[in-house]
Amino acid sequence: VTRAIVRGVGHYLPARVVENAEFEKSLDTSDEWIRTRSGIERRHFAAEGETTSEMAIKAARAALDDAGLGPDDVDAIVLATSTADFTFPSAATMVQAGLGMTRGFAFDVQAVCAGFVFAMANANAMIATGQARRILVIGAETFSRIMDWEDRGTCVLFGDGAGAVLLEAGEGQGSADDRGILSVDLHSDGRHRDILYVDGGTSTGTTGYLRMLGKEVFRHAVEKLADTAHAALDKAGLTGADVDWLVPHQANLRIIKATAQRLHLPMERVIVTVQDHGNTSAASIPLALSVGKAEGRIRPGDLVVTEAIGGGLAWGSVVLRW
Ligand code: ACO
Repeated sequence: VTRAIVRGVGHYLPARVVENAEFEKSLDTSDEWIRTRSGIERRHFAAEGETTSEMAIKAARAALDDAGLGPDDVDAIVLATSTADFTFPSAATMVQAGLGMTRGFAFDVQAVCAGFVFAMANANAMIATGQARRILVIGAETFSRIMDWEDRGTCVLFGDGAGAVLLEAGEGQGSADDRGILSVDLHSDGRHRDILYVDGGTSTGTTGYLRMLGKEVFRHAVEKLADTAHAALDKAGLTGADVDWLVPHQANLRIIKATAQRLHLPMERVIVTVQDHGNTSAASIPLALSVGKAEGRIRPGDLVVTEAIGGGLAWGSVVLRW
């Protein structure tokens, strides 16, 4: 069988780091509250004028360098974002041009914080069906642009950044020992729109800010993330005991710990970056994969489970062997 194997990974974080304490100047909040409720200590914010596509290009270059490949070796770009530079064209085609890539195709995927999982599932399907051999899968966001800076319940939780993975077609035996993506589990339920959304957009002729009922999202997250990870593992014929690394969407350390517990995984087997990045939505998983690899933790042959949930609600999990 044809498998989509991770050949390279990379990331980019904007230079400006904002510590929790900075919010104490403008909001009724504290470093202590943010730390204990979310696990977040700091986050990066894009510079004025710095865009999602610019960050995505830097992450993509890093992934290509890691793979030892150039832009002309890539057949497609799938970019997950809710904060593209423009309504159109897609950020993905802007990345294509920015990389100097003149062949192949590129498009965006929109599943908010679950976007990278949906993009990986999409890329996996295109590789499995022979539509592309090498695909750059990118998650890139500038959530700082959709923050209501007067809403202490949301603006302290998010950050900006980009991560990218280069997937390449390879042959496997059709067993769970193969390298590459082994299984995918995706869900959405549009009835939950009102607990997490941006109250503006193109067809309503408005611009908006992120609105979230944090407690409600939290409740769904803890239940649905463990369920989808279990379902994806089950599809691959695996269990929690086979997992080397849980690489969760980085929204809240308490959600991450609760999910790990439900999968019977000790925190030593979980890649956690939320303390340094905050919630970077679709960028959080590729950022964590890149940091996990750079730290020498994620190694070839390791079984990696990714999972995420976000606005929609949309949620899912991808199981892969690195
Ligand atoms: N500083 C100080 N106090 C605060 C702050 C703040 N920054 N924010 C809220 N509070 C207050 C609240 O007003 C509330 O006060 P009250 O009791 O007087 O009403 C109190 O703290 C407790 O608030 P809760 O919302 O109950 O706090 P909770 O423990 O639930 O933590 C949090 C809030 C961090 C938002 C949590 O619910 C959470 O992480 N939810 C999930 C968010 C998430 O995972 N999103 C993922 C998807 S994101 C996407 O798709 C774009």
